[in-house]
Amino acid sequence: MKFAKRMENFGEGVFARLAAIKQEKILSGVEVIDLSIGAPNIPPPAHVMKVLAEEALKPENYVYAVTDTRELLKAASDWYHRRYGVEIDPVSEVCSLYGSQEGLSHIALTLIDDGDLTLVPDPCYPIFADGAKLAGSKIFFMPQLKEHDYIIQLDKIPKDIAARAKFMVVSYPNNPTTAVAPADFYERLIHFAKRNDIVVLHDNAYSELIFDGSRGSSFLSFDGAKDVGVEFNSLSKTYGFAGARVGFCLGNREVVKRVKLLKSNVDYGLFLPIQKAAIAALRSPQEVIDKTRAAYIERIDALIDGLNAAGWQVDKPKATMFVWALVPENFGTSEEFVKTLLEKSNVLMTPGSAFGPSGEGFVRMALVQTADTMKKVAAQIKSTIQF
Ligand SMILES: Cc1ncc(COP(=O)(O)O)c(C=O)c1O
Repeated sequence: MKFAKRMENFGEGVFARLAAIKQEKILSGVEVIDLSIGAPNIPPPAHVMKVLAEEALKPENYVYAVTDTRELLKAASDWYHRRYGVEIDPVSEVCSLYGSQEGLSHIALTLIDDGDLTLVPDPCYPIFADGAKLAGSKIFFMPQLKEHDYIIQLDKIPKDIAARAKFMVVSYPNNPTTAVAPADFYERLIHFAKRNDIVVLHDNAYSELIFDGSRGSSFLSFDGAKDVGVEFNSLSKTYGFAGARVGFCLGNREVVKRVKLLKSNVDYGLFLPIQKAAIAALRSPQEVIDKTRAAYIERIDALIDGLNAAGWQVDKPKATMFVWALVPENFGTSEEFVKTLLEKSNVLMTPGSAFGPSGEGFVRMALVQTADTMKKVAAQIKSTIQF
């Protein structure tokens, strides 16, 4: 058998190594608390699950959907208007995705020819670089450093790199650093993209998970954004829809048109009951999200107050569903520290190095356990590690 060379760019790496240790522990009867994967465990509102259940019982809903229903696109467009004050034409400026992940893994096929260049934040959510690599792109990393509050320094991108780049991925509130970008960053971003003729993909998965009382915005709410790019949005975190797989690509109609064209060739649309449930979620009273935010704040307080009491000084995140913490002194690399925590405290986190070179020196904790379990995490770390 002869396999494609492109897969040599991908490997399980650190995740496989950590999974092996976790498995060994579980086999020996030890309970491991897993904070490594950002799999949300707060379910959708009951009325949304009811719509899904009822629609799933209708035989006529088992045909190929083929494409998005008009009602779904209108619900997404209305949501953008209500929530961000952004006008989206439901016919030409939005299409659904099997989650943002699917869109981010395919969109580069519409933008990249072999050997082109993509600008990707570092550290970043892995599909930002992997989607581009799958399409044959070379990657230039834009560092997101603590000393700049993890905001990309656009003026540090070399001119020849900016001139060559086809598209760039940007995402705030940011996974893994939890940073939120100020408004003037988006103004500079749009100016930069126009000057260099670069398509911007803004991933806005966490606009609803900001914890300091401020409201997240949309890249598309800034002047000129639609001229240069699109936004990805997702029901996964906002409405607990992760397994149901619903996201959207919205904004520039030329980009949306090509995503639709690609998808019309490779898939048959979202399962109709899922489209109906997504409409119910998008039209939900926003209080359901207040409850989700409150649950995350409770988890953050339980975890971080406990870790600080254990002697590991960690800041509370302003946004997202993660904690991004410096590896304490004398604990080696991020991977070594994660192994120590797993072996001694039975807690699994993700080493920052898994998100790119600038992630070294940090670990990421996903807020995917209840507040009580978070207290347990802190207690187990306190009783097993001397900071
Ligand atoms: C930044 C970011 N984008 C996209 C996704 C995936 O979202 P979806 O479930 O819509 O594919 C995640 C999931 O963790 C994420 O952190």
